[in-house]
Amino acid sequence: MSNKDTNPQTGKQPFIGPRDIIALVRENILNLTPYSSARHEFTGKASVLLDANENAYGSPLEDNFNRYPDPYQWQLKFQLAKIKGVPAENIFVGNGSDEVIDLAYRIFCDPVKDNVIICPPTYGMYEVSANINNVGIKKVNLTSEFQLDVQGILDAVDANTKLLFICSPNNPTGNNMNRADVETLLNNFPGVILIDEAYINYSRQKTFIQELTEYPNLIVMQTLSKAWGLAALRLGLCFASLEIIDLFNKVKPPYNINEASQELALEALANTEQVNNWIKEVVTQKTALTKELGKFSFVEKVHTSDANFLLVKVKDATRLYDFLAKHEIVVRNRTRDVLCENCLRITLGTPEENLQLINLLKRYA
Ligand SMILES: Cc1ncc(COP(=O)(O)O)c(C=O)c1O
Repeated sequence: MSNKDTNPQTGKQPFIGPRDIIALVRENILNLTPYSSARHEFTGKASVLLDANENAYGSPLEDNFNRYPDPYQWQLKFQLAKIKGVPAENIFVGNGSDEVIDLAYRIFCDPVKDNVIICPPTYGMYEVSANINNVGIKKVNLTSEFQLDVQGILDAVDANTKLLFICSPNNPTGNNMNRADVETLLNNFPGVILIDEAYINYSRQKTFIQELTEYPNLIVMQTLSKAWGLAALRLGLCFASLEIIDLFNKVKPPYNINEASQELALEALANTEQVNNWIKEVVTQKTALTKELGKFSFVEKVHTSDANFLLVKVKDATRLYDFLAKHEIVVRNRTRDVLCENCLRITLGTPEENLQLINLLKRYA
């Protein structure tokens, strides 16, 4: 962009809308020759595998885990494609969403030079991952209603701003971001927007996955760690254009998803009914817990949540946190987060666990 496009009063450039994605990618990544694994190079029919220095005899386990897994997890992606209504080619699976976040930094952000925008209070890994990758962070806080400050975000953009993280439903506040605001940003933010939908299964708002064809600068992240109950398997999902998925495949470790996780997830994904029942149960429990918490004099506000947790403002969060911890109930103290003074984040448990919490709170004074 030439200097004459820059506002002489503010020094800011006009909104240019989404740039060409390739223009946003780090040069060393564009020029990278990725690692080519044995399983990757050979695509024909094989009956004797002498290509990857594995143990040909087997493994000490009943299920043989002696062979390297499918680097692209196609069976898993075919199943996810059916559930999510997206072609398998538009899916990338990470070792948790945290790997997806880290890879996004590695693909788009030149250390030291580039920066990203995050909107606190929000999920902590966006900032930690930026720090690990030595990438600058611009913080544009949410409004007092926990919504996006759209103008603030656009004003914060400079020529080196590559990514914007939007978490919806947001952790730790639990609310959805206004869809119209997200759309305004998708139309005007000149970098890549990552919408983190870790809690989307609990939300009344629909996913942005269906908007991928509309916005080439959009990455949608989901996870199997929450509603799907598979946190231990470490499976983060990323949905994006073919161009972006290609970049993720280029930079990922060759076998980033282990065979046990692939097989177990495939088995779990057949059980949508169980998961849907749990989601309904969590929503019911959330309404009940909100009502019960509202009865305590030390509870000042229970924020409306579209996730599987509640942000609860109390009189003295640290004192209450310590009291609960002393009685072996662990919640998250968010009092140090901006806009979350004296707030605890409480995950919905089973009906029995929620009752235990309420009974204990009755003893707190
Ligand atoms: C908003 C958000 N995104 C991502 C994650 C992490 O997901 P994963 O387990 O897939 O790494 C969390 C976990 O708490 C989260 O709250």
